[in-house]
Amino acid sequence: MRLKDKIVILTGAASGIGRATAILFAKEGAIQIISDINKEGLKETYKLITKGKENTIIMKVDVTKPAEIKDMIDITIEKYGRIDILICNAGVVKVGPIEDFPDEDYDLLIDVNLKGTYYTCKYTVPYFKKQRYGVIITLSSVAAHMGKIYHANYCSTKSGVLGFTRALSLDLAPYGIRVNSVSPGATDTPMLQNDVSKQAKDRGVDYNVVKREFEEERVMGRWARPEEIATGILFLATDESSYINGVDLRIDGGWKIR
Ligand SMILES: NC(=O)c1ccc[n+]([C@@H]2O[C@H](COP(=O)([O-])OP(=O)(O)OC[C@H]3O[C@@H](n4cnc5c(N)ncnc54)[C@H](O)[C@@H]3O)[C@@H](O)[C@H]2O)c1
Repeated sequence: MRLKDKIVILTGAASGIGRATAILFAKEGAIQIISDINKEGLKETYKLITKGKENTIIMKVDVTKPAEIKDMIDITIEKYGRIDILICNAGVVKVGPIEDFPDEDYDLLIDVNLKGTYYTCKYTVPYFKKQRYGVIITLSSVAAHMGKIYHANYCSTKSGVLGFTRALSLDLAPYGIRVNSVSPGATDTPMLQNDVSKQAKDRGVDYNVVKREFEEERVMGRWARPEEIATGILFLATDESSYINGVDLRIDGGWKIR
């Protein structure tokens, strides 16, 4: 097992990439606190864990509420005495033309994608520094590497995550802490499905028409499965990547090569 007895905190575990990561990490022997704003989804993730359930704790945490994040981290330390791996995965996407973009959607993008990542790291880092060990993995996106129609605000938050991760890796390297990001390409999760549904509705065309266009745009002609992103997160979490620091691992099927 590649993560035997590693203490892991994972946000956004009720769905998609977070869920696939929780299932994979449990199989690999991790002791996990899996969190999300969506308690029902978390319970579903817990049900889907076939191996390692006894080492999984679910916690309802809204990453836009710093006090809830801090509690999760403090409780983990009280219970286990350390944290080995932090995965800042919780994220939202909101799309649309800038002139009609609701201000509350803009605030949500900032609060979840940027500030959520910042606060989760902020409260974990003091423990990592004391341990002189730790691994942080953030979720950026291929949207940080290229423009996408109507995604300006989402792109800006994911570019922010990329810059944050890169710079933080410099600060923390002297303490034996590695900080890397993963940039998924189009991945078949509720996030992308909702994104495609909205575009289909706005254009008055069928969901499958937009989906097909999205897929044809990709070098590999298909979306990723969430499990294909989780394996990249796993690699960065283990000591197999012990000399990998400050990188962004694009898992986009080659989309960005074009
Ligand atoms: N699906 C893709 O194509 C894609 C591509 C690039 C990057 N990403 C990134 O990967 C990450 C996971 O996305 P996904 O595709 O699995 O999406 P998803 O919508 O399936 O899962 C995101 C999870 O984050 C949770 N979340 C949202 N707001 C939260 C909050 N305030 N507090 C706690 N949890 C909250 C949701 O409840 C959900 O369970 C995100 O950061 C996303 O931006 C996804």
